[in-house]
Amino acid sequence: MPASTATIVIFGAFGDLTRRKLIPALYHLYCNGHLPEALRIVGVDRVETDTDGFRAHHLEGAQTFVPDIYTSESWSYFGGQLHYVQADITSRAGFGHLKDALTEIEGAPSDRLYYLAVPPLLHKPIVENLSAHQMEVEDEGWRRVIVEKPFGYDLGSAQELNASIHQVFEEQQIFRIDHYLGKETAQNILFLRFANTLFELMWNRNTIDNVQITVAESVDVGHRAAYYDRSGVLRDMFQNHLLQLLTLVAMEPPAILNANALRNEKVKVLESIRPVNLADTVRAQYADYRETEGVDQDSQTATYAALKLFIDNWRWQDVPFYLRSGKALNRKTSEIIVTLKRPPSVMFDRAFAEQITPNMLAICVQPDEGAHFTFQAKLPDSTAETRPVDMEFHYASAFGERRIPDAYERLILDALEGDAALFIRSDEIEAAWHIVDPIISGWADGQGPTMATYERGSWGPTEADDLLGRDGRTWEHSCSH
Ligand code: BG6
Repeated sequence: MPASTATIVIFGAFGDLTRRKLIPALYHLYCNGHLPEALRIVGVDRVETDTDGFRAHHLEGAQTFVPDIYTSESWSYFGGQLHYVQADITSRAGFGHLKDALTEIEGAPSDRLYYLAVPPLLHKPIVENLSAHQMEVEDEGWRRVIVEKPFGYDLGSAQELNASIHQVFEEQQIFRIDHYLGKETAQNILFLRFANTLFELMWNRNTIDNVQITVAESVDVGHRAAYYDRSGVLRDMFQNHLLQLLTLVAMEPPAILNANALRNEKVKVLESIRPVNLADTVRAQYADYRETEGVDQDSQTATYAALKLFIDNWRWQDVPFYLRSGKALNRKTSEIIVTLKRPPSVMFDRAFAEQITPNMLAICVQPDEGAHFTFQAKLPDSTAETRPVDMEFHYASAFGERRIPDAYERLILDALEGDAALFIRSDEIEAAWHIVDPIISGWADGQGPTMATYERGSWGPTEADDLLGRDGRTWEHSCSH
């Protein structure tokens, strides 16, 4: 537990993320005794209210989003640590007021974590305004900044943003969030691979036929249509979450488990990805997407994408990685399926050999977190018939009542402790944009596939099945049936 006194300053204090995720995560951390003894949470926004109004807003949020832990006793202490400063975060003068207010609330020197839970356009002005009032200076405690995604809109804007934040903060003070890295099951990929002997032995091009990463959502774009129509699935999900999952699956073991060693290995993976062939991409919209309020009637924004890519290094040469993600799909599931090559089947006759499905390891990121390994077993009372059977591990049954913390709990705690391992480094962000930018601009220039459509509740367009079909493969589902 961090020992000192600290302040978390949340810019965007009345935003959806703060209400649904950040305050509930902090409340959970408090109830589990993980927060520093003296921690103040200062919300900053332009909404006209005071500390009482801010507390009431988040009390209602906590009752809605974490009703299982809410008690009036715990809230009476936790809620008492919430403070509100009304300020225009685009104005330099507003920060003078904020600085004075923080000094008064803190009463004594304190560490500070600035959390930018605001749209990306505000990242730069906030950082500049902090600097204009020397609020990044570490003479009275550490100063760190958490930057929410999306980090930039493309490679150029991400580079600009990195450069302007670096003018004020050192890289080790900057924590760029990708909440997928805070998910327990995403972290477990490294433990599954490197804390066991079995899997790493097979984890290479000699044994693995292909890897599939699916992040499917059943929700549509909902009330975020205006943001989403400018963004699309490649920026919203691939540049960050899918590529992050991919790095965890494909990276080499770091020599030591610290932030830099880990992130060096992830960057190497991203830099080894071969430029994606546009013929190996699929883009699609769900059928009534263009009728959504806030969406352009001629929108060319993809709500679904599928890609085939290759990692040109010793371990992965020529192993296809198939990635797909979309909104309004059949169900919410994030899963990574590692399919092994077929065994040589000399001892079986051809008819039997053909029924043998390859071994598959499924890492179920969410929901029903766990892992399954599918292998062949002989059908009882047959001569040589086999069936695929499953060895399954589910967090819920293996770890009983121990709850899986929300990703934001892990990430906020790590930032308070100064551990950046689960945050994205500047070169990593830029390497990821290097991969998706050419696809986005190729599509915008009319190259590659035309926009396909898919029915709500389906698994996506048939074009995505064809992408694998051309290679004699199909998309696999193993988690959350
Ligand atoms: C966010 C995207 O980063 O991740 C959303 O902006 C998406 O569009 C969300 O719905 C998915 O996160 P999770 O944790 O629900 O899988």
